Amino acid sequence: MTVLVTGGTGYIGSHTTVELIQKGYEVIIVDNLCNSSESVLDKIAEITGIRPKFYLVDLTEKEPTRKIFEENKIDAVIHFAGLKAVGESCVKPLEYYYNNIASSVVLAEVMAEFGCKKLIFSSSATVYGEPERVPITEDFPLSTTNPYGTTKLMIEKIYTDLAKADAEWNITLLRYFNPIGAHESGLIGENPNGIPNNLMPYIVKVAAGELYQLSVFGNDYPTHDGTGVRDYIHVTDLALGHIAAIEKLNEAGVHIYNLGTGNGYSVLDIVKAFEKSNNIKVPYVITARRPGDIPECLADPSKAERELGWKTKLGLEDMCRSAWNFAQKSLKK
Ligand code: NAD
Ligand code: UD1
Repeated sequence: MTVLVTGGTGYIGSHTTVELIQKGYEVIIVDNLCNSSESVLDKIAEITGIRPKFYLVDLTEKEPTRKIFEENKIDAVIHFAGLKAVGESCVKPLEYYYNNIASSVVLAEVMAEFGCKKLIFSSSATVYGEPERVPITEDFPLSTTNPYGTTKLMIEKIYTDLAKADAEWNITLLRYFNPIGAHESGLIGENPNGIPNNLMPYIVKVAAGELYQLSVFGNDYPTHDGTGVRDYIHVTDLALGHIAAIEKLNEAGVHIYNLGTGNGYSVLDIVKAFEKSNNIKVPYVITARRPGDIPECLADPSKAERELGWKTKLGLEDMCRSAWNFAQKSLKK
């Protein structure tokens, strides 16, 4: 089975590509490299022994996207490509709406033209907005608080309408909670440009001495220690969730799954776990809440376990150790 992985040189796409190749899938990657590097292909080759075929294409452009399908017989697509920084999406909303939505529409148009109607889409827990309670099940009300989140929700709706209009489509929407960590080899991982916005990459830079200290955004939330609680999921477990989904991609319609662990950890839990797992200090200071943050975000992942036979295996220590291992091995060079 040949799988086109869009955004396959990115963080989650590269980990999923490794797992797909190791399970015997043939993988073709398309990426415009706006937030990743072609050198990731060499790392994938180093891990798996196979360098996936690569197209440097912007998916908002239809003709080059068509060419990928003309030149290859593609059975299914996993669509990771997109812009993902919440703060930046508030500053550049049009860029986010255009890139994320146009690419998702163009991709589906081209897939339909070539009779490829199996699609897995990277959505996010951000589509639950401010949930009334946790854990969150897939039937919770949907809303968003920023343009990035709105693109995810709009694409979910577009793909749902598509599946309603044409019963041959088989679409799985995967709502990721907070992916962190890196491949055990330390060869691929998360490598954001500039000062990181997200917790784990920020902690890594503080531990490495590149940033002075972590700002903990608020300690007055109604959580066990007052700091924000999230459902952190190891990126390898997340990648394996895609394998489980692709193996079940044979029922028409739209299928929606939360991919999370169901365990909540606070900011301070993560800091302590990182320090303990890696025997390194992470200096921090408590600051004001970050606007738009919610107290707690936690998945109920039982639907994915029931229907896909998938559940996470890796714990917080694995997440912290692998994130630091990647930083030590790959980010210093
Ligand atoms: P990433 O930025 O590392 O990977 C996305 C890739 O898409 C990048 O390599 C980028 O160059 C590429 N890309 C962007 N626009 C493109 C376009 N128009 N054409 C071709 N390639 C394009 O991000 P990631 O963390 O691996 O996230 C993958 C997907 O998962 C994204 O859709 C993201 O919104 C979603 N998601 C991520 C998280 C997270 O915390 N990382 C959480 C929930 C959902
Ligand atoms: C972020 C995105 C969300 C996306 C999710 C997936 C934002 C606002 N939201 O969620 O859309 O779906 O990633 O990974 O970016 N924190 C600090 N100090 C820091 C950074 C973070 O205390 O320097 C805290 C935050 O307040 C939060 C927790 O750490 O309580 C996690 O933050 P982050 O990693 O940015 O993820 P989310 O905000 O959950």
